[in-house]
Amino acid sequence: MSLFITFEGGEGCGKSVQARALYRQLSKLAIPVLLTHEPGGTPLGKRIARWLKWGEKIPPQTELLLFNVSRSLLVAGVIQPAINNGQTVICDRFADSTTAYQSYGRGLDLAMVRAVNHTATQRLEPDLTILLDIAAEAGLARKQDRKADRFEQENIAFHQRVRQGYLKLASQEPKRWLVIDATLPRAKITEIIWPKVKRLLSERGSRL
Ligand code: TMP
Repeated sequence: MSLFITFEGGEGCGKSVQARALYRQLSKLAIPVLLTHEPGGTPLGKRIARWLKWGEKIPPQTELLLFNVSRSLLVAGVIQPAINNGQTVICDRFADSTTAYQSYGRGLDLAMVRAVNHTATQRLEPDLTILLDIAAEAGLARKQDRKADRFEQENIAFHQRVRQGYLKLASQEPKRWLVIDATLPRAKITEIIWPKVKRLLSERGSRL
C-alpha cells in the first residue's frame, strides 16, 4: 500500500540528497515509488518555480498563491493519481514549506496560509514528514558557492524564523514529523530515516 512521505527543511539542509537516497532504496526493493518536488514537478509548475526563485520581488500573498498554484497542479496531476495507483510518493517539500516560509518567514496569517494550502492539497496530508534541522547560518554557508535565489538572499532573521516555524510545526504533530539533526553525516541520516519508513510500510502491509 502507498505512503506519502515529504522532506522539509531550511536552505542547505540536504533534504534533496536524502529524498533521492530513499527513492533509490525503495526502488531497489521493487517498491513502486515516485519522487517529485516542490515548487515544480509539472511543466507549468516548473515555470512558476523558476519565476518564484529568480523573478522580481512580489507581494507575500502573491507568493503564497503561486506556490499553491504549482502545488494544486502537482497534487491533482501527479501525487494523488500515484497514491491511488498504490505507489509510495516522496515529495521534496510540500505544504509545510509554505507554512514555514510564507507564514513564519514572511509573516502571513497562519490560518489564511493553511486555508489556501488546503485548497491546493485537497487536504491530502503526508503520512511522514522528515525535517532536516540545521541552524540558518550553517545551512546558508553550505550554499555559498552558488548564485543565491530570491529566498537565499533573504536576511538571516527570515531564515531563523523559518527554522523556528518548522520546529514548532514538528512539535505540534510529533507522530507525523521525524526531526533529524542535518549536521550528522549523510549516511547516518539515511540510516535514521530507513527504519521509520520500513515500519510504516510494514504497517501498510508491504512485505520487506
Ligand atoms: P529549493 O528548490 O531549494 O527547495 O527551493 C525552493 C525555495 O522556495 C526554497 O527557498 C523554499 C521556497 N519555498 C517557499 O518559500 N514556499 C513553498 O511553499 C515552497 C515549496 C518553497
